[in-house]
Amino acid sequence: MHQDEQKALVAKEAVSLILKEIPEGEILGIGTGSTVNLFIDALAPHANYFKGVVSSSDASTARLQGHGFHVFDANEVSSIVAYVDGADEINPLGQMMKGGGGALTREKIVASMAKQFICICDSTKQVDILGKFPLPLEVIPLSSAHIQRILEQRFGGQVSLRHTKNQSSQIFVTDNGGWILDVSGLKIAHPKELETELNQIPGVICNGVFALNPANTLIVSSSAGVARINY
Ligand code: A5P
Repeated sequence: MHQDEQKALVAKEAVSLILKEIPEGEILGIGTGSTVNLFIDALAPHANYFKGVVSSSDASTARLQGHGFHVFDANEVSSIVAYVDGADEINPLGQMMKGGGGALTREKIVASMAKQFICICDSTKQVDILGKFPLPLEVIPLSSAHIQRILEQRFGGQVSLRHTKNQSSQIFVTDNGGWILDVSGLKIAHPKELETELNQIPGVICNGVFALNPANTLIVSSSAGVARINY
């Protein structure tokens, strides 16, 4: 089965799970990325089942609004029943690496407001140890060179400032006006500790290790089909 078909499969399975286990009239948190895009499309016929959604990026907001979902600002809601998002990597404890799409800060905020995190991905994202996928950090632009030096000296990774895919000379700017540093060459043996430590560096807005608030459920697909794992 092709990777796109596997993504569509988990999107469909997540819709079934949500309609079965979440009562009508709730607010759902929505992540960002190609898998979530398929989830949004599959959920669209049920838009009125929800009071609304909170989105983790401008791109997801536009897609949700196009499908008729009511998108709340995070400041307008006090509780989110569940947060659904993809991942760049997920380990056997449900700890994730995220931020390949640059939406990590809002993703972490919306996820932290939710009662449960439902991760949807294909099996290529399952790893024993996080770190093969470069670790993204969103930073305040004026601190980026300083943070890059700290990361290289303290963690020994190779750090690069993210540029846009279309125009390699143009720096990628997040929905929050931040820049992204991608750190490759790490083997993250202690994700919670690393997540906490990176948060202490002045100028770091957010890092892509999601270990302190891991997934509660993983819906994962492979060529063998779809499986559900609860942590
Ligand atoms: C977005 O910033 C990321 O955290 C995504 O959740 C992650 O990159 C997964 O995206 P795909 O579903 O496109 O693989």
